[in-house]
Amino acid sequence: MHHGDLADAGSLIRLLEKIRPDEVYNLGAQSDVRISFDIPGYTADVTATGVARLLEAIHQLGLPARFYQASSSEMFGKVREVPQTELTPFHPRSPYAVAKLYAYWITVNYRESYGCHTSNGILFNHESPRRGENFVTRKITTAVARIKAGLQEKLFMGNIEAKRDWGYAKEYVEAMWLMLQQPHGDDYVIATGETHSVREFLELAFDRVGLDWQKYVEIDPKFYRPAEVEHLIGNPEKARKNLNWSPQTKFAELVCLMVDADVKLLADRCQ
Ligand code: GDD
Repeated sequence: MHHGDLADAGSLIRLLEKIRPDEVYNLGAQSDVRISFDIPGYTADVTATGVARLLEAIHQLGLPARFYQASSSEMFGKVREVPQTELTPFHPRSPYAVAKLYAYWITVNYRESYGCHTSNGILFNHESPRRGENFVTRKITTAVARIKAGLQEKLFMGNIEAKRDWGYAKEYVEAMWLMLQQPHGDDYVIATGETHSVREFLELAFDRVGLDWQKYVEIDPKFYRPAEVEHLIGNPEKARKNLNWSPQTKFAELVCLMVDADVKLLADRCQ
């Protein structure tokens, strides 16, 4: 492990010079959409300008490294068409999404200006037991495990009507790697092609441990966002065709594997 900082160009140059990587995957960001409304300046510095610093460091050092940028379905925001593809116009709805848009275009720009092998994976929500607890899926699954164990009484939520295209992170990481194995850099939507509401996630997650979600969930407006992305659903056809990639894990399986993992984690901790 090495330490660097997307806000510090010098640290990036020193690291890249030392490691001389063949492939660079930039997953670094201030990635919490709601928090980006509280810290828009910091979000822009790390999530947007940080990518320019990283690309410029690779370019200045003359490294032949292939570059992956973690672009986001949040860039579609107030969606212009359903489902969203690589050609759908963007309409970002948060400081986070605006920053990701800059990062997307600077990645395209280094490809077009200097012929660098750069790719954008426009990833729709991807979840796993390793997801941070501030994101909605993991917030729900940790709460379900705690409620089932008698350690928590209520779960307070924001907008449960929001719909997302949720896939399994493990499979999405393979898509990232596949992008860098292609002869040329390009931009790809990575999604399942299915959409589900937060409400459906709640139903399935509580059901997995034999509980009725309506007895435990309450709405707290403090979790609402100043502007919401209501409905995301991606079309991964280009990735299917060019990368031979397709999602395997269905929504209900994903919910169950996340709940099971949190139930086990809690049981292990309590031993
Ligand atoms: N976090 C959170 N907490 N979200 C809630 C809650 C709550 O209590 N209640 C409802 N939601 C709704 C949000 O308003 C949003 O519509 C949806 O649940 C999903 O929220 P998040 O899990 O926080 O993810 P996100 O969709 O905003 O963004 C994630 O996915 C993007 C696309 O892949 C993040 O991982 C981004 O970094 C990523 O780019």
